[in-house]
Amino acid sequence: MESNNPLLVMNKIYSGYGEVKVLKGVSVDIFDKSITCIFGPNGAGKSTLLKTIFGIVPVETGTILCNGKNITNLNPMTILEMGISFVPQGRCNFPNMTVLENLEMGGFTIKRGTIEREIDDVFAKFPILCQKRKDLAGNLSGGQQQILEMAMSLILKPKILLIDEPTLGLAPNLVNDVFETIINVNDQGTTVLIVEQNAKKVLEISDFAFVLDLGKNWMHGTAKEISENPKVKLHYLGL
Ligand SMILES: Nc1ncnc2c1ncn2[C@@H]1O[C@H](COP(=O)(O)OP(=O)(O)OP(=O)(O)O)[C@@H](O)[C@H]1O
Ligand SMILES: [Mg+2]
Repeated sequence: MESNNPLLVMNKIYSGYGEVKVLKGVSVDIFDKSITCIFGPNGAGKSTLLKTIFGIVPVETGTILCNGKNITNLNPMTILEMGISFVPQGRCNFPNMTVLENLEMGGFTIKRGTIEREIDDVFAKFPILCQKRKDLAGNLSGGQQQILEMAMSLILKPKILLIDEPTLGLAPNLVNDVFETIINVNDQGTTVLIVEQNAKKVLEISDFAFVLDLGKNWMHGTAKEISENPKVKLHYLGL
């Protein structure tokens, strides 16, 4: 929850894809051990925001600080080593490899000898993955594949987990499994920044929320404040 200094700060960020300018002065603060959600219309720049933090999309102006250190425009591998992991939009694990092999891929930067212990930790946290360790990842349900994606990122024990639309296209019962997993991950000390279309559900599990529109900040506050905001209720909560 909230402490004096945010763990991650995006300060007036402009970023995009060459001629395509997407983020236009976005500022976001993420507090240590919180769950912070981002939502907004299609094309608002939510995925671009996560990719910008992770060093995939270059920053034109503005700064990103993590733990007070300037991480603006560092490469993704360096950012990963600094304790920030990213689960991109769309399931993208290796469907023709087993669950165990996928987890080994998630730990590819860990020195040999420690990976088994990290995988045992993951199996303790996610018993369903342990049960299905020898199954092909492609044969898991959509929700289980999403949990595997998160588990692959957690192998490296990140301080911050960036997750993009983890429930996209999932059946409602699987949506709950994914949200429960995110709560558990957070309870164990990982700070979470999640982009999610399902504003109602994600506000229920979040401490803080940012709403983007057209590449700019539209609104931010505690999840409670945002869920009680009349404009948010009208546009996002169907109330
Ligand atoms: N690789 C790319 N090259 C050029 N333009 C891109 C690229 N990726 C995204 N864009 C454009 O950037 C804008 C923001 O895209 P982004 O994916 O960040 O939106 P989003 O808020 O995540 O939307 P959605 O809700 O559909 O996932 C869009 O206009 C999109 O067309
Ligand atoms: Mg997106």
